[in-house]
Amino acid sequence: MLSGSPFKGKFYMVTGGGSGLGLEISRKLASYGANIYILGRDREKLAGAKKLIEESGTECNFFPVDIREFEQVRKIVDDIFSSSGMDGLVNNAAGNFISRTEDLSMNAFLSVINIVMNGSINITLETGKRWIESKRKGVVLSILTTYAETGSAYVIPSAAAKGGLSTFTRSIAVEWGPKGIRANGIAPGPFKTEGAWKNLIPDQSFEDYLIKKNPSRRLGTTEEISELAAYLLSDFSSFINGEVIRIDGGEYLRGAGEFNDLSMLPEDVWDRMKERRKKQ
Ligand code: HXC
Repeated sequence: MLSGSPFKGKFYMVTGGGSGLGLEISRKLASYGANIYILGRDREKLAGAKKLIEESGTECNFFPVDIREFEQVRKIVDDIFSSSGMDGLVNNAAGNFISRTEDLSMNAFLSVINIVMNGSINITLETGKRWIESKRKGVVLSILTTYAETGSAYVIPSAAAKGGLSTFTRSIAVEWGPKGIRANGIAPGPFKTEGAWKNLIPDQSFEDYLIKKNPSRRLGTTEEISELAAYLLSDFSSFINGEVIRIDGGEYLRGAGEFNDLSMLPEDVWDRMKERRKKQ
């Protein structure tokens, strides 16, 4: 979608870049000329991802780390700023599971919140401090979800954490904007990645339901979301700051409009209403 190599000679870090959406975003940025750093828990996955990302001809380095290990992450960011530095950060790593909330322990809440919100805030803080110290421009992109705004039953640790990260993103955009740092979010609806589907989609009938209720009558593709990510990280979007862009085929609005469900009215009822109106 973007013209030229807008990321040529630049360095971007993607958390959770070893698989799923993080890997697709990394590959897209690399195809536009970026060098990539990926973080993830699984060394083997990261090594496989590095090969795929480097197919575009740029460099990819990986760091096996759980982003809940705040001190280790700080050290990694330190090392990167001692060498290449960084031009952008993608907060993509996430953890989530479906559960009735009364079945959860506080530890279950913390296991998700420490990845999604605290892990992302820690790495943004460490990166931002170094950008400010070195007077280098930077851009942060956080992968949120449509339910960061509304909340959602059965994924409450994730909803609370994504909501917090969303507010953090909008706030830091204002505070750090004058220092040359932008921060935006993407709020995806249903995208079929292995991690999300394995953890969150109980069976085929729920996937069918997600498609049926979506005004676009399909799931999103990782191509669509990674192009949006590339745009928001590039200078083509340099006046977009503090925004959360929804990409969900219209699913969010479909759930909100009072009369949206009238789409299920049979034809003859519409015809009768029309006749009645004419008579009136
Ligand atoms: C209830 C659970 C649970 C489950 C873990 N716990 N899984 N409780 N239901 N399914 C509880 C445990 O009992 C434990 O509490 C605590 O959580 C920590 O458990 P661990 O197994 O030690 O967890 P940990 O190794 O920290 O990993 C947890 C996790 C894991 C990170 C959340 O599930 C994971 O790795 N998920 C894969 C990543 C992922 O989910 N990606 C998809 C994100 S997609 P106790 O009290 O027993 O000690 C996404 C987008 C949403 O978020 C939009 C989709 C449409």
